[in-house]
Amino acid sequence: MMQVIAIAVMSLDGYITRHNEEGVAFASLADQRFFRAALTEFDCCVFGANTFEISQTEILRHLAPERLRIVLTRSPEKYSAFHHLDALEFTDAPPEVVLADLRQRGKQRCAILGGSEMYTMFFERHLVDELWLTIEPRLFGAGKRLIGGRLDASLRLMTHVLLAENTLLLTYAVN
Ligand SMILES: NC(=O)c1ccc[n+]([C@@H]2O[C@H](COP(=O)([O-])OP(=O)(O)OC[C@H]3O[C@@H](n4cnc5c(N)ncnc54)[C@H](OP(=O)(O)O)[C@@H]3O)[C@@H](O)[C@H]2O)c1
Repeated sequence: MMQVIAIAVMSLDGYITRHNEEGVAFASLADQRFFRAALTEFDCCVFGANTFEISQTEILRHLAPERLRIVLTRSPEKYSAFHHLDALEFTDAPPEVVLADLRQRGKQRCAILGGSEMYTMFFERHLVDELWLTIEPRLFGAGKRLIGGRLDASLRLMTHVLLAENTLLLTYAVN
């Protein structure tokens, strides 16, 4: 059984980006450290093409065979120059098919790394087992939401940890 865990950092009012800015520059150093350490526990991860575009330099710098990165895009051919089998792959397969393929390849733990469109799609389709959510003490009032549409998911709190004086990490299991 492969575990599927969504990992995100958001403001207190539920935004994963600040206003019109792309990226997660608002995340605290404590969250960035947590995120990097947490990722080492995963043998694969999935994210959307926008997140790839925004974090491309960082992603390409850290490519490693220990963790397969799957990027969802409706135009995989656009990214063929970046394709590295077993390290960085681009696909337009439905999320269920992507996860089934990862399971078949023997993967044990998959991180869903955003952005908003990806979290929304994976939660809507009931494909997520856990959510690891860092809450930064910020209020933005505008930006991209963790979940971009109507949803009614119910979760169970597993752990609450202070990553720093004002930054909380909450881990939930999805019912
Ligand atoms: N705070 C956090 O934890 C966090 C985490 C991750 C990202 N972010 C931020 O969130 C922003 C990106 O979020 P986003 O919602 O705009 O984009 P996203 O979820 O990263 O990617 C959206 C893209 O995914 C592709 N896509 C969507 N549905 C698909 C489907 N069914 N099949 C195949 N491909 C599909 C499309 O790419 P094509 O247009 O190529 O078809 C779409 O444009 C960035 O600013 C990023 O920095 C924040």
